[in-house]
Order: sequence, then structure tokens, then C-alpha cells
Amino acid sequence: MIDFNALKTRAAAAKPIVAQLEDSKRVPDFSIMQDGLLFDYSKTTIDRDSRDLLLGLLETAGVAAKRDAMFGGTAINETEGRAVLHTALRNLNAGPIVVDGEDIMPSILETLAAMEAFAADVRTGAYQGQGGTITDVINIGIGGSDLGPVMAVRALSPYHDGPRCHFVSNIDPGDVAEVLKNCDPIRTLVIVASKTFTTIETMTNARTVRDWMAKSVSDPAAQFAAISSDLDKTAEFGIAAERVFGFGNYVGGRYSVWGPIGLSVMLAVGAAHFRDFLAGGAAMDQHFRDAPWQENLPAMLALVGLWHSHACDYATRAVLPYDNRLGRLPAYFQQLEMESNGKGVSMDGAPLPFHSGAVVWGEPGTNGQHAFYQLIHQGTRVIPCEFMIAARAHEPDLQYQQELLIANCLAQSKALMEGRGMDVARKIAASKGFTGDECERQASHRVFQGNRPSVTLAYEMMTPFVLGQIIALYEHRVFVEGVVLGINSFDQWGVELGKELATGLEPVVTGRQSTDGQDASTTALVDFLRGKGA
Ligand code: F6P
Repeated sequence: MIDFNALKTRAAAAKPIVAQLEDSKRVPDFSIMQDGLLFDYSKTTIDRDSRDLLLGLLETAGVAAKRDAMFGGTAINETEGRAVLHTALRNLNAGPIVVDGEDIMPSILETLAAMEAFAADVRTGAYQGQGGTITDVINIGIGGSDLGPVMAVRALSPYHDGPRCHFVSNIDPGDVAEVLKNCDPIRTLVIVASKTFTTIETMTNARTVRDWMAKSVSDPAAQFAAISSDLDKTAEFGIAAERVFGFGNYVGGRYSVWGPIGLSVMLAVGAAHFRDFLAGGAAMDQHFRDAPWQENLPAMLALVGLWHSHACDYATRAVLPYDNRLGRLPAYFQQLEMESNGKGVSMDGAPLPFHSGAVVWGEPGTNGQHAFYQLIHQGTRVIPCEFMIAARAHEPDLQYQQELLIANCLAQSKALMEGRGMDVARKIAASKGFTGDECERQASHRVFQGNRPSVTLAYEMMTPFVLGQIIALYEHRVFVEGVVLGINSFDQWGVELGKELATGLEPVVTGRQSTDGQDASTTALVDFLRGKGA
């Protein structure tokens, strides 16, 4: 049974980070280098003893056995009776992986080859829309069928040499309308991406786009492709089997960018770069399986996370990529971490005796510095930060700007750690001409508490391989945290209630049903919105 009390005691008594860094061995000992990715967690309050306690959690929770069960195809998603094998999508040389008595690798490789052939046809113009070569691709999907592609296409834009990619996810009519404004139906390919092919947002948007296309294209279905694990439903929608790319139910939505859900990424950057992305993920898988825990990047990132969430009781953590093209990475990690580890009961159904996963949020730097970093530096809540930074820009002529970006990133983690005491603040206030009580008052506003933790991931350049490494790193980090917390990281029952109630409210909002039986607040809101146009 996991008990965080010893860790809480150690966290409360931990030496300040600045003092810990006086140990000349700390930086090499509290950082990990894996395949060009440097993970530095020396700017945390974790010391060697607390790290030993944290490592003990992995043993107590049986993480190694669970990890091997996951890679081996055991149905570790117990509430849905499913194996968890998104890793098989990228582990192309792994040999047979057997699920329910069947080797799943041949069909994964076959689907990858079909995606590659289709992507090549679209990119070269061998596949055409009614008006010729495809210039625009619209991916319609939501959650895991959107966030992975949208994040990766933007992250890899220096490699983008295929058609323009657009993403429609929200049921909000404004989302689809904005995208359609910029597309020519006769040269647009539409991908309907939905694991279940039932999600109301996706299916509604798919019908809207089909209607839009039907106004200009004689056979709109010929310009549609589908990605789903329900091939009957894609056929019902009218999409020809040769443009349907399936995947097994051993791939969860938020883990699905590695397979057919990544088709828009492949169309954007080409199959070779997509394979580099897979290779980055596979390299991280191998490292996760082989490296001893203390040198194991996903395991240590997870333990740092647990230290902050369950020993220090910090409720949230910020993901702060210093890379503008990683603008959707925090949202991607939000789904990955919060849909996976935001659970109220342990695997056996008993209420969790501690909090579930941390709240994850963030924005790219340096923009965030001019928005919410104020609270991170001086607010009363401590927010552990996860910085990401590349040494090299994709724009060699603008490398100086990259260096300014690096300086900013390093300055933030340093400022968080070192803070600024009252003595220095007093001198600053005095230098501005303040004296006496006013000097004290002004100085107190300029104090930074310091000792605020952060980790930094650094790499040479954001390439498809590095992106694959980072995504797989976070996937395994979430897995390890979930195993230690004793929860099922692979179901998402928490999204069901809202979906059910939305279905029930639809006839009320459209006026086909009265508000009888609704609560008073919902009734008043329906009345207001209906009065204003609903
Ligand atoms: O509502 C949550 C969810 O099921 C996510 O887990 C998933 O990524 C998303 O909806 C989309 O689901 P689908 O791919 O089946 O449309």
C-alpha cells in the first residue's frame, strides 16, 4: 500500500534548492541524458534520501511488472477489458505482439503501409479532388482524434511540405465556419477521425462539411477519408473502404497520434518524417523498458511529479515549452495527463485515499512570462514548472533570437529558484529614492520567495524524432504515476455523464421538449437562451 507520509515529512524538512546545488555532484546526479534529450531535475527540493524513498514507491507499486504487462499485451485497462498497446504502433521492429491469441503487428504494418501509399498519392497529386491536386486537408475529430495531430502538425511546421492542414473539433459552428472559409471544396480532402465514429461533435461536423462540399462536388464521399476502429460505421457514412484506416481498441484516443489518427501529420510532413517521429517514440519505449529506475527518464519525471503533487501537495504543474510551435503541447498534455490520471477510485473501485493526478496547464514562453508568470513567481501557491528548450532554431539566420529565448528560459528557472530577499529588495527601493516606511513597503512588493521548483528538458532542435521522444516520455510518465497511485490510467468514464446530459438537453434547448423536470438554474438558462435565439 502506498503511503506518502514519509515523503511528506521529508518534503516539509527539505533543504532549499540553492543549498542543495552547493553539492558539486548534484547536477550530474540529478539529471539524465537519453538519446540527445537532457532532463535536469536538480532545481527541485528532492535530495538523495527522498529520491530513495521515491524510488521505493516504484517497487511497492510493482511498476516494473505493470510496465512489462503493458508492453506484453495484458489487458491492464481492466475496466474496459483492453490491452494498452499504443506502443505497438511505433515499435515497428518489435516482432510479434499477441492480443487475444492474435499477432497484431501484421495489421499495424499493413495499415501503416496503406496510410503511406495514400499520403504519397495525395502529396504527389496521384489522388485528386474534383478540381485537381489536393491543396487543403481538413481533419475533423476531437480530444485524442484532434489534439495529437493539431499539436504535431504545428510542432513540425519546418518539415511541412504537403497540403495545408486544418482542424475542426468543436461543435461550436464558429469552428467549422472559420475553416471552411479558407478551403476550396473541389481541392479539399476531409478526414473524419473518430475512434468510435459516434462522437457527436465529430459526426455533426462531418455532416456539415459533407453538405458544404456537396454544393460544389458531384461525389463528395470520394473526397472523404476516415480513421476509426468501427469499420461498419465508416461504411454507413459512405466512405469507401480503400480510404478507411482502422486501429485496434488497444489504442486509447489520447494515445492514438502514432497510428492512423496521425494521417494529417503524415500528409503534412511526409512518411519519412512521420517514421522519424515513430522512431523517437520507440527509442523512448526501449529506454523505459531497459534503464534502471534512477536513470530512467519517464520514471524519474513521474517521481518528480509525485514528489510535487503528493509529498509537497502542489495541486498543479505548468508545462512551459520555449518553442512557439509547441503552442498546443500543453493542451495535448492536459488531455494525456488529466483524462488518464484524473480518477476518484483505485483500480479495485475503492475511493482513492489521496489526490489523483495533478492539474496540468501552460503556454509557450516567452509569452507566458508577460501573462501569468507573475503568480508563479510571487503568488502564494507554488507551481512546479516544466521547461522545454532547444539549442538551435530552425532559422539559422535568426539563431540570435533563439539565444535570447534560451536566456529567458534559463532566467526563469533561476529566478524561481533563487528568488530575491528583502535586503536586496530594500536596496532596489532605496535606489529609486524611497525612504523610511515607504521604502519598506515598496521593498516588500519586490521580494521573490524563491525555492520554487522546476525541471528542464533540453535538446538540440525540435525534430520529428525529438517530438516522438517527448510525447512517449510523457505517456510513460503518466503511466508510472497512475500505477503508483493505483488507478486505471486508460479509461475515461468521467466524460460520460456530461455527454449523456447533453443528449438529454438537446430536445429541451431546441424547444421540442419542455423544461419540466430540469433543475431551476438550468431551466432559467434555457429560458434565457431560447428567448435570445436558441
Ligand atoms: O470524450 C472523451 C473521448 O472519448 C476521448 O477519450 C477521445 O479522445 C475523444 O473523446 C474522441 O473520441 P473519438 O475518437 O471516439 O471520437
